[in-house]
Amino acid sequence: MSVARRKVVVTAGPTREHVDPVRYISNESSGRMGFELAAAAARAGDRVILVAGPVHLETPPGVTRVDVTSARDMLAAVKAAFLGAEGRSRAHFGKTGADALFMAAAVGDWRPKRRRAGKWRAKDCGDEVATLELVRNPDILATVGAAKGDRLVVGFALETGDGVRRARRKLVRKSADHIVLNDPTALGGARTSVTVIGRDGGEVRLINRTKRAVAEALVALGRP
Ligand code: CTP
Repeated sequence: MSVARRKVVVTAGPTREHVDPVRYISNESSGRMGFELAAAAARAGDRVILVAGPVHLETPPGVTRVDVTSARDMLAAVKAAFLGAEGRSRAHFGKTGADALFMAAAVGDWRPKRRRAGKWRAKDCGDEVATLELVRNPDILATVGAAKGDRLVVGFALETGDGVRRARRKLVRKSADHIVLNDPTALGGARTSVTVIGRDGGEVRLINRTKRAVAEALVALGRP
């Protein structure tokens, strides 16, 4: 009996919000977890679209990659791939979209209110203090989570303090089926520890595993 291949969207890496043509706001995300997820899903036989922020990582075999810069670019690419799209403009799975979304990207919550067309020069500012006005970026996970129907949505969180309680609130607010709570010490490293929190109340801890092993456990979520 042949089983239809699952269609999976993975996001990875940071987003980048330009202040002017040569400066931007971003974060330290390496993109490794998302790339491992995309690779693991492809190895497991899924069709995979990887929406990647600016990172220096090789595209895993069998994965279709869409490079994006800002959070708003990423939202457009995720909507097309996960919720569905027609035409040839972006990578997508057609009108019906994908079966699962793994939102591993570290999306910037804020962007400069205006992107300057020319360089922002020191002399344009005050003598000692400059102010950069920021506006809120869309929440990609919450936006597509609200429209997901019975498709699988997995979010990620990096918390300090009472992480599990915060991650549970995030899971509900963003309509995710699972939130993967990362250990802050894992940033950039090859090994990691995560707690996978489920909508059904379940909590599974994966301790000191390689990111490859964690990725394999995560792409098994929601698989029949
Ligand atoms: N996320 C997103 N769009 C954003 C911000 C975050 O899709 N604008 C996604 C991330 O990809 C991740 C999850 O939401 O899967 C958790 O992100 P996090 O930054 O921890 O959540 P916030 O809502 O920003 O909460 P806070 O910064 O208050 O912890």
